[in-house]
This record gives sequence, structure tokens and C-alpha cells, in this order.
Amino acid sequence: MENLPQVMQPIYEGKAKRLWETEDSDTLRMEFKNDATAFNGEKKASFESKGRLNNSISTLIYRYLETVGVPTHFVKQLDDTNVIVKRVDILMVEVIVRNVSAGSFCKRTGVEEGKAFSQPIIEFSYKSDELGDPLINDDYIREMQLATPEDLVHLRESALKVNEILSGLFAEVGLKLVDFKLEFGRLKSDSSVIVLADEISPDGCRLWDLKTGEKMDKDRFRRDLGNVMEAYEEVLGRLKERLGGE
Ligand code: TMP
Repeated sequence: MENLPQVMQPIYEGKAKRLWETEDSDTLRMEFKNDATAFNGEKKASFESKGRLNNSISTLIYRYLETVGVPTHFVKQLDDTNVIVKRVDILMVEVIVRNVSAGSFCKRTGVEEGKAFSQPIIEFSYKSDELGDPLINDDYIREMQLATPEDLVHLRESALKVNEILSGLFAEVGLKLVDFKLEFGRLKSDSSVIVLADEISPDGCRLWDLKTGEKMDKDRFRRDLGNVMEAYEEVLGRLKERLGGE
């Protein structure tokens, strides 16, 4: 068994990304995969350019958020499908912000799709693939010790700030930010600091064209609307025009 090349293993593999160690113990390499899943992994597909598109979109958004004062895990883009990120302990709470009724909100309430809310709705879910990311509330989060009440205040404030910034950004490129999911993590190098982590891409946002109402996000895959990557490419093109980038 000697002299066999060591096969590198990711330290984490999710449905759409892998995380790899780097030489620096405070950073990781985050790789965007081409795999797409929906309905808690029940529906699966692979799209040739998804990793590249989501990496480019997420990189543009994270750089922008950093420039307007939102602390994130982003360090730099490495190549088409990889970024370097600060190492964090992910909070097991997903923060969802909704501006317009869609998706599970409609399913849960019977409200029709497309109703603009008077104020954004913030929702939390327990990050557990096994349980299908169930909806939870502040009391669950406290008792499950997923985050402290103080952390939760911070998560809410950050999510609302990100919503304002990104709703404005997407509006400038003719897109309505309907809803999105954020994840946060505690810096490995300083656990008192919580930063925005994971990715922001059409996989985890609903984006509707302001003129035509067309869906420009993963709902195209969930609902078999076709032209999934064409929509992601269009989102990237518009963001590049507004924010720059090669
Ligand atoms: P939902 O309507 O299915 O609850 O989704 C709300 C938003 O959160 C939508 O933009 C998709 C995103 N989301 C994820 O990114 N990952 C998930 O696991 C879920 C359930 C939603």
C-alpha cells in the first residue's frame, strides 16, 4: 500500500458545494459544483455551467456587500469554480427574507404568489438536510442553542440590511428580489465575530424580471420551466454591467 498518491478529500460536501482545506488554517477553498437539487434533494440534475455561474454571481455580490460594509467570509476568487473564504463555524440556522409571497410561504398559508409584503418577513429554519430544513422560531433557536438571543438580534439586523442593499442592487438591473436565504458563521479566528457565509446566487434567491415578471432563478429548475442556465447567465450579465468584472 506504500507510495499510493494521497487522494484529497473535501472536509465537507453539500448538495451544491464542497469545502477543501488550504495551507492556511484560517481559510478554506469553497468549490461550486454543477449539481442542482430541489425539494430537499428529491429532484436532481447537473448543469454544465452552474458552478461557474454561481461562483461569478456570488463573488460579485460578496465583493459588493463588503464594499458597503457587510462583513462576509469572502476572501478572493481563485478560478471559475473556486473561491477562498474565511474558515467559520456555520450557525445551524438558515435566515430567509421574503419581500413578496412565493414558494413555501404560499404553500403554508394559501396566499397566492406575487403579493408584495408591507414589510419584509424574516423566517428561520433549522439547517438539517435529514429533517428537510424545518421552520423554527426564536424560542426553538434559544432552546436548541443554535444561537443566543443576542446573536439572533444581530442575524435579523444583518438580514434586513442585506435585503435593503440587494433589493436596491437587483432593482438597478431590472430584477425584483422576491426572497432569499442567508447563512452565517462564527469566524474560526475570532468566535465573537459572526459573518455572512455560504453563497448568494439564483440557487438561493427568487429573482423576477421587473418588466416581464419572468422567473430568473432556481424556480426554472424546480418547475421545469426550461432555460435554467440561460436565466443565470442573464443575471450574471446584468450584475457585471452594473458592478464590473471581466
Ligand atoms: P422557500 O419558499 O422554498 O421556503 O424558499 C425561500 C427562499 O430560500 C428561496 O429563495 C430559496 C431559498 N432556499 C434555499 O436557498 N435553500 C433551501 O433549502 C430552501 C428551503 C430555500
